[in-house]
Amino acid sequence: NLFTTSSEGESTSPIVRRPRKGVIVGAGQVGMACAYSMLIQNIFDEMVIVDVNQHKLEGEVMDLLHGLPFVEPTLVRAGTLADGEDADIVIITAGAKQKPGETRLDLVNRNVEVFKGLIPEVVKCCPKAVLLIVTNPVDIMTYVALKLSGLPSSSVIGSGTVLDTARFRYLLAQKLELDPRSLHAYVIGEHGDSEVPVWSKVNIAGMNLLDVEAEGKDINPLLQDIFAQVKNAAYEIIQRKGATSYAIGLGVAQIVQAILRNQNRVLTVSTLIQNIHEIQNVCLSLPCVVNRQGVTRVLNLSLTQAELQQLQHSSQVLQQTIKKLKL
Ligand code: LAC
Repeated sequence: NLFTTSSEGESTSPIVRRPRKGVIVGAGQVGMACAYSMLIQNIFDEMVIVDVNQHKLEGEVMDLLHGLPFVEPTLVRAGTLADGEDADIVIITAGAKQKPGETRLDLVNRNVEVFKGLIPEVVKCCPKAVLLIVTNPVDIMTYVALKLSGLPSSSVIGSGTVLDTARFRYLLAQKLELDPRSLHAYVIGEHGDSEVPVWSKVNIAGMNLLDVEAEGKDINPLLQDIFAQVKNAAYEIIQRKGATSYAIGLGVAQIVQAILRNQNRVLTVSTLIQNIHEIQNVCLSLPCVVNRQGVTRVLNLSLTQAELQQLQHSSQVLQQTIKKLKL
């Protein structure tokens, strides 16, 4: 026959490690952007995509599968949570998305109802998985998923301000004519209108931006509008194309990579904060160490008084929403 097997009669598998398996819940624009970015980066060996709209899900999976001859192999399939028994990660993008002019927090009631049915099922079907929440308002939804799942806080994380941090670095690097990978900068707090740019820690080759006259350019006027562009980016994009997708898909792939490859990567994911900067019992973003367990350390970033006040305001905004939750 066309394929021979080894003399002992078993087929010899090229994979000598446990296959890396993920489940993506939600085949909307964000979910499929996550799937596509992880497919072309060959992050999983197996990816199961779940959605309530079976017909659309089949079309999305067919479309991905037809691209397989162009990339390294990933077993992609439409499935249900029951297919996720041995999944390492479940990425949750299901829920309502912002309409033009809506804030992320406006989505909370609709998406909490979705999570009330979804999260217990995820925990039952995928007992070994880290939960990565992308559904907005992501900090609130991470907190809700944590409470509904009963899992340790290390293994229920949100995409948080990973995307805002990337936008911040990109826009700063553009203004300063640098590669964004050579500029370090963080946005912390809520992934939303109260997010906080940590200007005091923006650095290039270890030099603090605020102390640097970048090649004779007076950088201060440049700074005024950059953060406004970061904070309003999603609104601007949603107004033009209806949703954001590519950048969040790439950001989710980075978080997944850090978990699957146990990278101890520092990322501003959303996690339960207890007793840092006088903040507790809320999920928001600070620089965290991300590895196979999820989030194992939250770095205690030293902040200026102004940044600390902004972060505490951001925490209060989220706490007000958490107080109204009916779980
Ligand atoms: C954004 C979505 C992911 O900021 O909230 O693009």
